[in-house]
Amino acid sequence: MCGIAGYIGFRRADEVIISALKRLEYRGYDSWGVAVRHENEIRLIKRMGAIGDEKTYSVAEGNAGIGHTRWATHGKPSEINAHPHTDCSGKIAVVHNGIISNFQSLKEELESRGHVFSSETDTEVISHLIEEFYKGDLREAVEKTIGRLKGSYALVVMHAEKDELVAARYKSPLVLGVGDDELIIASDVPAILDYTSRVVYLEDGDLLVLMKGDFEIFSDGRKVNRKVETIPWSIEDAEKGGYEHFMLKEIHEIPRVIEDTLFEYLSDDIEIDISFAAGVSEVTFIACGTSYHASLIGKHLIEKLAGIPVRVEFASEFIYHQPPMHRTLAIAITQSGETADTLEAMRIAKKLGARTLAIVNVLGSTATRIADHVLYTRAGPEISVAATKSFIAQLIVLYLVALKLSGMTKSEMEGLLDELRIMPELVKGVLEHEDEIRAIAEKLSDYGNMMYIGRGIGVPIAMEGALKMKEISYIHAEAYPAGELKHGPFALLGERTPVIASLTPDETYEIMLGNIKEVKARESIVVAVTGHDDAEVEKYVDHVIRVPRTDALFTAVTHSVALQLLAYHTAKARGCEIDKPRNLAKSVTVE
Ligand code: AGP
Repeated sequence: MCGIAGYIGFRRADEVIISALKRLEYRGYDSWGVAVRHENEIRLIKRMGAIGDEKTYSVAEGNAGIGHTRWATHGKPSEINAHPHTDCSGKIAVVHNGIISNFQSLKEELESRGHVFSSETDTEVISHLIEEFYKGDLREAVEKTIGRLKGSYALVVMHAEKDELVAARYKSPLVLGVGDDELIIASDVPAILDYTSRVVYLEDGDLLVLMKGDFEIFSDGRKVNRKVETIPWSIEDAEKGGYEHFMLKEIHEIPRVIEDTLFEYLSDDIEIDISFAAGVSEVTFIACGTSYHASLIGKHLIEKLAGIPVRVEFASEFIYHQPPMHRTLAIAITQSGETADTLEAMRIAKKLGARTLAIVNVLGSTATRIADHVLYTRAGPEISVAATKSFIAQLIVLYLVALKLSGMTKSEMEGLLDELRIMPELVKGVLEHEDEIRAIAEKLSDYGNMMYIGRGIGVPIAMEGALKMKEISYIHAEAYPAGELKHGPFALLGERTPVIASLTPDETYEIMLGNIKEVKARESIVVAVTGHDDAEVEKYVDHVIRVPRTDALFTAVTHSVALQLLAYHTAKARGCEIDKPRNLAKSVTVE
């Protein structure tokens, strides 16, 4: 999820590109760089940290250039790994957003032909391939290069000898800003709006040549025309992709996030080396907040699929009891990789003899340097304080880890893997019902209390649903195992306490129906989350949120996305801030 900007026109390219990259700062990044064509040379600067850290920059005089803000995926955050990347001659510069899944084999092939690499990134193979194919026609060289790439890319290339940019996109966004005698290519609209509101959205497979005052678009080698549209958005609207809040934008990014995370670890087989778990007799999760709820789901999955006993600890509590962990795999789940409680618990677990695995979204974060092993989620930067897409990405990694630990053969797990592969479509099936969810949310918005209930995997689903509701709508939402209601929480029920019930299509379904009847007998209104094909539950409840039917194990994804939307629209109906809830921080770096 990096930021890309390229410019060709009458202005100084470095000034335009740096201002454009600053418009992409909301996406979060760890380093950045700019290259400009100056007197048949490529001049470039690369920096760690934020662009705003320094007052002014001057790369060189020149009207053509490219720039990049990096959200590290391959190769730690460092100046040498920052883009743009150049070839051996230094005459070709590339910026790239995406993941080149075959970069290792390409790198070895290029090194065998004498290419010398300076970075750890997947991107650098692109500049060296272009160098090999370049015979004077940059578009032709780029076209041949992308024919060797597997994975996703949005890339912009320039050569020192000509004022020209060549760009290509596949499964990673690129948009062209069409100004008067100037062109700006970028990964997202906010980078363009200071210069023009006329844009061309490129399509997968498009290859674009930008010249002074003109551009050409090719698809499958043929010139094509793409519509020039006018963007009505303000800059702030554009940062949210037209959504009113980052939270809603990030919920709608979930299908893509699932694809990206699966892309990283699932081909024909699950590409996760679980040798780190060899010989462990138990697993202990340590985490906080939403990541703690992901851990509870991880417990359910690993115990059910792999038969390994699992404990789940609040990181902030783990520090007060320190069991022996010599045959334990301690799994820390942390989106930010900087949560102080989780980091401290990791250090203690290591001291107690545990092997440590961290499931993290931010590459190079502290947790990745403490853990013995790391598995990254591919959620990209999550701006909203409420964890949504990162939570689902954590679940995807947990499904794959649990399946790997299960020892099942490929054919035995094929059905579950097929279900995982269609998960992006199942989530889209949830998002398609957003209007119905919003209507229910608006009916809930004036309550001061809520009770979320479930059984089995429905319990952590309920807990995470309640946390979402708490943290952005400020409604006091609790979650309980449905079987526990009779041991006290029944006293809270009544017409002022709606109940949100997660029904999963497994052995808990019938008894959950019974619990719902008990709840109804106490005058609470009931909102049920259940599969599309459930014709029974609507007889007993006030509202039904329907999600695509899936194996009970995977309802943690479909139900959670529905409950994220429920919380979002309830908070919106209440006029809450949503992206930056009161008293909360995105990353809690204090204990
Ligand atoms: C979840 O919506 C909250 N933002 C919070 O509970 C968060 O999950 C918790 O602070 C843990 O953060 P981490 O995953 O970055 O460690």
